[in-house]
Amino acid sequence: MSQKEQIIIFDTTLRDGEQSPGASMNIEEKVRIAHQLERLNVDVMEAGFPIASDGDFEAVKKIAQTIKGLQIAGLSRANNMDIDRAWEALQYAGERGRIHTFIATSDIHMQHKLKMSEQQVLETAIAAVKRAVGYTPNVEFSAEDAARTRLPFLAQIIEAVIEAGATTVNIPDTVGYTIPSEYFNIISYLKEHVSNIDKAIISVHCHNDLGLSVANSLAAVQAGARQVECTINGIGERAGNCSLEEVVMALRTRYDILPFTTNVATEQIIPSSKLLTTITGIQVQQNKAIVGANAFAHEAGIHQHGMLMNAETYEIMTPESVGLNANKLVLGKHSGRHAFIDRLKELGYDLNKEEIQKAFVRFKSLADMKKEIFDEDLDAIVADEVLRVTETYKLLQMSVSSGSFTAPTATVEMEVNGEVKKTAMMGDGPVDATFKAIKELTGSEAPLLNFSVGAITGGTDAQGECTVRLRSAEGREVLGQGAHPDIIVASAKAYINALNKIVSIAKRMQGDI
Ligand code: KIV
Ligand code: ZN
Repeated sequence: MSQKEQIIIFDTTLRDGEQSPGASMNIEEKVRIAHQLERLNVDVMEAGFPIASDGDFEAVKKIAQTIKGLQIAGLSRANNMDIDRAWEALQYAGERGRIHTFIATSDIHMQHKLKMSEQQVLETAIAAVKRAVGYTPNVEFSAEDAARTRLPFLAQIIEAVIEAGATTVNIPDTVGYTIPSEYFNIISYLKEHVSNIDKAIISVHCHNDLGLSVANSLAAVQAGARQVECTINGIGERAGNCSLEEVVMALRTRYDILPFTTNVATEQIIPSSKLLTTITGIQVQQNKAIVGANAFAHEAGIHQHGMLMNAETYEIMTPESVGLNANKLVLGKHSGRHAFIDRLKELGYDLNKEEIQKAFVRFKSLADMKKEIFDEDLDAIVADEVLRVTETYKLLQMSVSSGSFTAPTATVEMEVNGEVKKTAMMGDGPVDATFKAIKELTGSEAPLLNFSVGAITGGTDAQGECTVRLRSAEGREVLGQGAHPDIIVASAKAYINALNKIVSIAKRMQGDI
């Protein structure tokens, strides 16, 4: 293959990614991620599943109204109600709006989930695509569980939906079951057996249950797929989806044997990853490819020696190419507003005046407690002051007494739905006492599933970062985070952040399907 070919990057962080436990986002958070995806320059962003809930509908509508220059997709099952609702939200994007309709095609799904025959599924798919084409020519059809579908039937339905007007046909490995050689053969089979395949883009959508989603997506590209569906940090149902950063950097780094390009602004990868982590609270593993904390760290002496001689000895891509800035500028008490704003911009934060002001006030107060402020501290400040949901509950002030002589007691003052409330509680330890006080003030019954504490940077003056996992009354897992030099205050902030998320999800889920 000598000619450069373009791979369409279809990001589904806001739809499939958001379906993973703990990843629920409110509209404001989704729009913030959407703006970052715009900077990352993906080709298509799947903004949500409009019929799923009023909140999902509003998020897709808002994104369709505000995000310019890239395609916005909305998911719908293969029925009129879903498709109509999807277009109602997507219409604001005009010709950039894409209806993505799907139905399962594997025997196991058709028999046990849909209770439909092949003929019924075929007719339903054709009717759905025709309905969608009535709104827009930009229609994607997905054969759910395609990787476990009988190939002749898969070819038949793909040919029929292209005939009905689908311009992208997606062949998902919904359950993360396939392996690269098999998936390569599935795509090759379709290229050979679907007579009108040249009239549509073949898309792939891989889940990571066997850890093969990126390898499978690349194999599919080699077989002729030209759209890859993926998510930032690989978030998604169960083991997640194909990771955007991994597939994009594999294409870029191994251009010698994968001669394909993408439009992705790779230096926006780390800012995108960090923003998503901050908003959802879902951390990436330390050794995760591309975006993990250790991805570019060289600890072994022999590696460090080689790196000093020539970085290419152990580095196959530069940290700068993914937006990891080696220049960890340290700010301090005397740093001015300009230096602060410049650094935020370099870190990828696009904040308005009011948000900058909030973050700056917090920066100054942190600088009084801590000599040096690192990039990670700025991330935590932006997360705490700007990105986290605070609408219902707000921590005003607190104090805790504990030690080996006193019964741990926490006094907490909060704003609860605009009303100032205060209480004091005793507990088994200072965190327990604090959480009891917050529960008392908010009336929350949400069980605590997990609580963890870490330090954002090194040193005894480092800010503590806490994560709290709660279960909502509807059974959803929700993550909250908080950062502060006082670890008990950080714990309280994390707990309150999780409670705010529970309220915001409950509001969003009104009208849930
Ligand atoms: O995994 C899957 O099959 C999906 C489809 C809806 C595309 O997410
Ligand atoms: Zn999926």
